[in-house]
Amino acid sequence: MKIVFVTGKGGVGKTSFSSSLALTKASEGHKVLLVEFGPKPFLNYIFSKNKVDKKIIPPANLEIVTWNYEEVLIEFIAYFLKVKTLVEKFFSSPIMKKLIKVAPSLRELVYLGKATSPYRNIGKKMDYDYLIIDSYATGHFLSLLRSPAGMMSAIKKGAMHEQCKTILEVMKDPEKVSYYVVTLPEKLPMIETKEFIGSLQDEFNISPQIVLNKIKQPLRKNGKTAFEQEYSEQIGHQDNYASKMNIYKSFPYFYDLKLSDLVTSMTKKLGDNELV
Ligand SMILES: Nc1ncnc2c1ncn2[C@@H]1O[C@H](COP(=O)(O)OP(=O)(O)OP(=O)(O)O)[C@@H](O)[C@H]1O
Ligand SMILES: [Mg+2]
Repeated sequence: MKIVFVTGKGGVGKTSFSSSLALTKASEGHKVLLVEFGPKPFLNYIFSKNKVDKKIIPPANLEIVTWNYEEVLIEFIAYFLKVKTLVEKFFSSPIMKKLIKVAPSLRELVYLGKATSPYRNIGKKMDYDYLIIDSYATGHFLSLLRSPAGMMSAIKKGAMHEQCKTILEVMKDPEKVSYYVVTLPEKLPMIETKEFIGSLQDEFNISPQIVLNKIKQPLRKNGKTAFEQEYSEQIGHQDNYASKMNIYKSFPYFYDLKLSDLVTSMTKKLGDNELV
């Protein structure tokens, strides 16, 4: 089993890429769970269970789910307390008060706890070959990764501390978890991606794969209008950016109108790329 986190700046194509990756792995016969974090489900703009709205109908071996914070939190807490009535009591306990103090990262922590649970043999059984997580945008993604250490420094011992330790161990293990950062071939996104990757490497010793998305094609050779020249100038730097980094996969700018069509085009292009 492999856990895959997809991140990147807002709007770069995280959801499209996660969906394509999930479809590709499912088409190879693997059992795949494609996860998005709640509260708002977005994957239903791409996938549907019926043919009516011409979205993608996922194959039987691809499950799509939105993880809801409150549900996952209850699951997480219930693991420590086992008995349901205790779970209710727990929310008024001193430990809970301590948790509330670090509450900004509690959401992140429970999502990570859930994502890594198959490797830690806790919680509900998740029997998949790939767990593909359409995750937070870069800045928020760092908070996600920092959440176990944050909790460990707030609660110095006991079951919660131990859980956080194992979560972090799993997250740092390249055999268990891989990371994909989607970015655009433009100056600012490339600078930010470099910084982001630096943080992942320095803080967590994590080396993500880079996905370059929305690469634009030349209009026509030797276009003479000011627009054509400006456009050529802009896209001229794309190769430069691509050559400076180790890119896992590049995708062109697709001029498909519908998101589901775009994901279909992306999936075809992804082909049999080996997942790292
Ligand atoms: N290769 C591409 N070519 C053209 N348009 C694309 C491409 N990839 C993504 N898009 C478009 O960019 C927009 C954002 O894509 P997507 O929702 O996958 O990004 P995201 O990173 O998940 O965004 P968010 O940060 O809002 O979650 C969508 O309108 C999508 O159709
Ligand atoms: Mg998205």
